[in-house]
Amino acid sequence: MCGIVGYVGSKNAMPVLLEGLSRLEYRGYDSAGLALQRKEKIEVFKKAGRLDALRTLLPKRNAATTGIGHTRWATHGAPTDLNAHPHTDSSGCVSIAHNGIIENAGELREYLTTRGHSFASDTDSEVLAALIAEEYGNAGSLLAAVKASLRRVAGTYGLLAMHRDEPANIITARNGSPVVVGVGDNEMLVASDVAALVPFTRQVLYLEDGEIASLSAKHHEIHSLEASRPGVSQRTPSVVDFDVTLASKGHHDHFTLKEISEQPEALERVLRGRIDTRFKTAHFGGLNLEPKELLSFKRIKILGCGSAFIAGSIGAAMIERTTRLPADAESAAEFRYRNPIIEHDTLYMAVSQSGETFDTLTAVQEIQRKGGTVLGVVNVVGSSIARQCGAGIYLHAGPEVAVVSTKTFACTLCAFALFALYMGRMRDMSPAEGEAIINALTQLPEQMRAQIASPDPLRRLAQKYAHYQRAYFVGRCEGFGLAREGALKLKEISYIHAEAYPASELKHGPLALIDEQTPTFVIIPQDDLLTKNLSTIAEIKTRQGPVVAVSQADMSDKPDVDDCIAVPKGHPLTDPILLLPPLQFLAYYAALERECDVDQPRNLAKSVTVE
Ligand code: AGP
Repeated sequence: MCGIVGYVGSKNAMPVLLEGLSRLEYRGYDSAGLALQRKEKIEVFKKAGRLDALRTLLPKRNAATTGIGHTRWATHGAPTDLNAHPHTDSSGCVSIAHNGIIENAGELREYLTTRGHSFASDTDSEVLAALIAEEYGNAGSLLAAVKASLRRVAGTYGLLAMHRDEPANIITARNGSPVVVGVGDNEMLVASDVAALVPFTRQVLYLEDGEIASLSAKHHEIHSLEASRPGVSQRTPSVVDFDVTLASKGHHDHFTLKEISEQPEALERVLRGRIDTRFKTAHFGGLNLEPKELLSFKRIKILGCGSAFIAGSIGAAMIERTTRLPADAESAAEFRYRNPIIEHDTLYMAVSQSGETFDTLTAVQEIQRKGGTVLGVVNVVGSSIARQCGAGIYLHAGPEVAVVSTKTFACTLCAFALFALYMGRMRDMSPAEGEAIINALTQLPEQMRAQIASPDPLRRLAQKYAHYQRAYFVGRCEGFGLAREGALKLKEISYIHAEAYPASELKHGPLALIDEQTPTFVIIPQDDLLTKNLSTIAEIKTRQGPVVAVSQADMSDKPDVDDCIAVPKGHPLTDPILLLPPLQFLAYYAALERECDVDQPRNLAKSVTVE
């Protein structure tokens, strides 16, 4: 996690770095820091807390034209001033900002202590600063010292390093944690995310794992870290397409609310250009698989983490329901650790908003290493997972800044609905059925626009339920997936303990906990399981549990329902998307009522680029 940003050029580095860090704060926000270099002097400013806390430390002006910055999400060492990055070796020569984990830090620390280095923090990263300083003695240049150091390191890194004696130079390296270089006019930027670069340049180049780059104002050089591949390359930058207005809050109080509100437009972007009215199917530009190859797959397996995993599980249900092709989803983190059997007649799909989630990226690499086929379902263009997969579906949801995923969840479901249509029409779905799905998908953005136009009743309902300490979310089939997402949203930002359960499983244990202090949110699509859901509600009510129905069916005459949120009806493939916004609004307004930091909840970061 964590955000890193670096600048070398002719401008004052400090404001550039601060602007970059403000755009990366969603990656981590428990401490932040800058190291600014002018001539042979490096000054370090760092502080626990948000970026605003760091700003209070900084001088009004600083003439440095080279610098690195970091915004942290603590993994090793508490979020304190001393543990904040950048870290400097004890002689003050080397300064680094590091994203990732140094696994052999303990061992290296012992060795470096015997070599006379001392340490001020509890972090693994500080060890790397000392190691680079140690190697500098033998290597004679920062590039060579960082190369030599990284060959001794086990772990992951997105790294920026500066040396007091090389004031116009930044070294950056990547292994398992993203690094993007921004090529400007007489200046070079580098960051963990293009969001930090786009205010300054659109020309970017992505470092691959195992690469190290030397950056000066006018020049970049990329080397391999492998001793057997010593060559140097200059890569041609690509132009990144990034709408800066989508990454600002606009008139909304929070990014979370803004991103919930812009779901209709985001859905329009997922659908744009992908509906084929002639053949009543969908088409995708980037699958890189011929229909014949797609038809040879016997199963689909979807992988992702957190909300991406949940969206994948609903996507799998949509695909299986529509195409009668067995499909399931699994946590990418669990998958990668269990030495999975990779079947060549299974199509794997990796879902990730950021495209940088380490566990998902590693799962993709594991599949590819064993000869499997994997498509990415990714929002961020050019991200690590998108590039690793090399083929797949971009969501085009636009930048999602709030830590909780909202619009990208809806867009992932929409992408899977399109994919189910595409695969279904390739198999035995009739044109009439295809047309019905196309009609539902075409109406979806407008239906959602009308649905989210007046959230006040949801605000009142959230206020009513915000002071309970726990809640259940239950549903069946896709409804259970939505229950999982509703519970995850509520716990992430309002810190109410929320547990999701398949409605059918309640009576096998969890009913023991239902009482008048435990509300249950029941997700009820208008489908053939309606009577089953009504009997679940009766079971809950018998134990005096408050019941909130999030329902496409008419609940007005149901005495067991305490509160009902009415949801418009679509098609089985669009219903999960229509059932989503009330769950998002409930979490958002409950968090506001409990005075929580909605956009940057405690202990979380947007993009989890560590194990
Ligand atoms: C969603 O609200 C979460 N913050 C989290 O579960 C997230 O979905 C997960 O970390 C995966 O992220 P990705 O989509 O960027 O891979």
